[in-house]
Amino acid sequence: MIRIAPSLLSADFARLGPEVAEAEASGGDWIHVDVMDGHFVPNITLGPPIVKAVSLHTKLPLDVHLMIESPERYIPDFAAAGASVITVHAEACVHLHRVVHQIKELGLKASVAINPGTPASAVREVLEDVDMILVMTVNPGFGGQAFIPNTLRKITQIREWANEVNPDLLIEVDGGVSEDTAPLVVAAGADVLVAGNAVFGRSDRAAAIQGIREAAES
Ligand code: DX5
Ligand code: ZN
Repeated sequence: MIRIAPSLLSADFARLGPEVAEAEASGGDWIHVDVMDGHFVPNITLGPPIVKAVSLHTKLPLDVHLMIESPERYIPDFAAAGASVITVHAEACVHLHRVVHQIKELGLKASVAINPGTPASAVREVLEDVDMILVMTVNPGFGGQAFIPNTLRKITQIREWANEVNPDLLIEVDGGVSEDTAPLVVAAGADVLVAGNAVFGRSDRAAAIQGIREAAES
């Protein structure tokens, strides 16, 4: 089963309530929320109060992607704000195993992301511990960037490892996902597809989500 997670980064930030409600009504499975701190990535977005506010407008799981340094300092606040899934970056965690278990002890799904320049081996030792790996298919920081094809082989590698040690592992992809690239990432082994520009950049969000789903499942 493929899940589609519309990314709020491409939504109208002055209308997040209606935007998230429309993403749900249009067939989105999760709501992807991009948190950027201006240090780990060269952009600043939002924090726990906005996650809390968004949570009041949808029943869908909030998939909170922390592109921040020292994420362990903020995980309890994002959990209290209503996150269902929290993703931290392997590149931002000196004690990655500890941070993964911090998320799980709060009762949430734990996920680890890797940038395009980071090898799959960076997550090999926590594959048994996590619920999901997020393979970044662009360099994080901005919506609307072009998909990086070399990331596909990491999806395949992680799926192979997961088949041995954690068959239930979800693999999420984030960046440049569209009707064109969805079949590629699914063939490689991805099952959660984040889409920002490809959903919120179109006026008919239901058609956009359905188009990606049909492409992914074809
Ligand atoms: C990028 C973010 C993505 C972004 C994807 O740093 O992590 O979630 O919203 O946007 P698109 O789908 O437009 O590439
Ligand atoms: Zn993201």
